[in-house]
Amino acid sequence: MFQRLQQKWKVSGLQVVLILCTFAIGGSLTGFAGRRMMNFVSIDQDWIWIIVYILIITLLWPVAVLFVSVFFGQYRFFIGYLGKIGKRMGLAKKMGKVQIATSNTPVELTNPLSSHLPAATRTPLTRVAIFASGAGSNAQKIIDHFRQSLHIKISLIVCNKAGAGVLSIASKENIPAILIDKEKFFRGNSYTDELKENSIDFIILAGFLWKIPAALIKAYPGKIINIHPALLPKYGGKGMFGNHVHEAVITAKEKESGITIHYVDEHYDHGDAIFQTTCNVFENDTAESLAQRIHLLEHEHYPRVIEKILSGS
Ligand code: GRF
Repeated sequence: MFQRLQQKWKVSGLQVVLILCTFAIGGSLTGFAGRRMMNFVSIDQDWIWIIVYILIITLLWPVAVLFVSVFFGQYRFFIGYLGKIGKRMGLAKKMGKVQIATSNTPVELTNPLSSHLPAATRTPLTRVAIFASGAGSNAQKIIDHFRQSLHIKISLIVCNKAGAGVLSIASKENIPAILIDKEKFFRGNSYTDELKENSIDFIILAGFLWKIPAALIKAYPGKIINIHPALLPKYGGKGMFGNHVHEAVITAKEKESGITIHYVDEHYDHGDAIFQTTCNVFENDTAESLAQRIHLLEHEHYPRVIEKILSGS
């Protein structure tokens, strides 16, 4: 049964346990709170009492499981789960700002947990799109890092290469993905409409090999960042991607390389730098061995730097 649930919900074994605990405790909490509320209602007719009770627990149950899910770290699963139920019941459009989606349509626009709080204390949800062209190891680390975040949500994967590893990651993680077309990206709307439709607030490039068109930069001023596997301004620019970068570093007999996280402007690898860190280049390094070392640096720092930028600290 466990395995069937794992497959059905596309989660790990541990998550199945946590989800079942959430269901159990959320259900008990609903029953408890429902009965307490009924104490305040004086209804003589048994059948009316039962109907009112059912109505109350039906309304209480989603709130209770959502509340409990936060403590079990399953908020994201349950918001999707309840959304699907709501959608089946035809409620999705009537749920105000909370729009839940299947894997290829938009998800919630604001943090639903905070919608009960006074406006001043609400936590805005920053919806992030990751643009990637390749394996997506950075994308995976970023997704992992923000999986439980209530403030930052990786909401969309944008990819320009059919069959790229990052698309499998998107489907495994149940994150909507768009496979983009060159003509539309460079000469059409640059997918700004699709990004806005998905309420994307911020764009992270993680191994995305196309230059970002001016229209997109204009639509997201100061809200697009990139990671480059070298110490910019050296070894950047057109053609400097993947192992070409590391080969150039090794050929130049550099003693150090590293990573640069920077804002994106209309030129390749050019905007203001946000963060740099270095690693050694050894005499016997190959492009592959250096790439591995650089990848470790990227995985360690990119998610953390993104969090810092988005939390404004
Ligand atoms: C990374 O080295 C990144 O710096 C560069 O492209 C590579 C992407 O790797 N821009 P991955 O697809 O995240 O594994």
